[in-house]
Amino acid sequence: MTTIIDGVYWVGYVDWTVRDFHGYKTEDGSTYNAYLVKGKQTAVIDAVKGPYAGELLRHIQEVADPATIDWIVVNHAEPDHSGGLPALVAALPNATVVCNEKCRDALAHHYDVSNWTFKVVREAETLELGEGKTLQFFNTPMVHWPESMATYLVEDALLFSMDAFGQHMASSERFDDELPLARTLEHAKTYYANIVQLYGRPVQAALAKLGKLPLRVICPSHGIIWRKHIADIVAQYQRWMVTAATRKVVVFYVSMWGSTRQMAAEIVRGAQSVPGVDVRLIDIDATHDTVTVTELMDCAAFACGTPTLNIGMMPAMARTLTYVKGLRPQDKKGFVFGSYGWAEKGASAADAMVAEWGAERIREPLTVRFRPDAAVLEECFNAGKALGEIAAAVAE
Ligand code: FEO
Repeated sequence: MTTIIDGVYWVGYVDWTVRDFHGYKTEDGSTYNAYLVKGKQTAVIDAVKGPYAGELLRHIQEVADPATIDWIVVNHAEPDHSGGLPALVAALPNATVVCNEKCRDALAHHYDVSNWTFKVVREAETLELGEGKTLQFFNTPMVHWPESMATYLVEDALLFSMDAFGQHMASSERFDDELPLARTLEHAKTYYANIVQLYGRPVQAALAKLGKLPLRVICPSHGIIWRKHIADIVAQYQRWMVTAATRKVVVFYVSMWGSTRQMAAEIVRGAQSVPGVDVRLIDIDATHDTVTVTELMDCAAFACGTPTLNIGMMPAMARTLTYVKGLRPQDKKGFVFGSYGWAEKGASAADAMVAEWGAERIREPLTVRFRPDAAVLEECFNAGKALGEIAAAVAE
């Protein structure tokens, strides 16, 4: 348990060991943040992942008798937050579950809610806890599920922001001023790229609405709490939600016998020949997709390389492109390249997936039979230089 401000407590769980969050490699673990607000009445805000409900209850008992808790606010039905709800509801005999209509429906599809008491709230509805604690509810659809909601503690200008502004990062510290800001922002960026990047427009709508509220503290459902660097994280979200390009080129590839690797290296050299451009080379066999999609989020231009295997692209590239096109980084320009032996199908299959992703292809796939010769390597260099020039033109 940690006190956030008078009458508001963190009662969640720090998950030091989780390494996979539906495909997102959580190298530094995560937290499932739950909170408790004490006025005349008492409310718990969200639960934790199912296996950690006992820890949640232990933290709650440090500040309140479970029998005195009146409300359980459920901002989001995803099981990393709702999994502990059945145990929580059972342990708080006098608590009513507060959520919106869509969330009630989602909870009913996850759990046996036949014995739960619900209070369904509408947009901007308030719930007075007394003693200067009023909760207000704002729907934030698709941030990160359709039923998502944020809860605002009016008098304290404190926002329980749900998944928004979160980070998958386990730590002993709970506040942004207790850790290096750059580290927290890096985690927040990776989190944004892998969890909410697809939902840029809903994020913009949520930010337009919530950004009008006075904000002194932001309590997300994962990671550290923002109380000093609110302006920094909001400014970063303004960039990420439009996946704003920086002067960066990303070349990601997979190779079989080294030809596509050679082409990648020459494309990189071409991009590096343009001054002021940050160039990243990613071998997807050695790099998790979590990292690749984060690098792609703020690049201006890219190249995607795969040889042909069995009349298609390499399976590793199919996996990476499936992940990337699902999260859909916006306004990126690039091309596909790769070698083949007797069927020129790998690059064309990848090119079709890049089209599905929605990225602009600036040229036909750059391919070579078996090994790139000097002429092909020169073409790779020039194509890489074209990517560098696209990146260099980005206003910063
Ligand atoms: Fe942290 Fe969408 O759940």
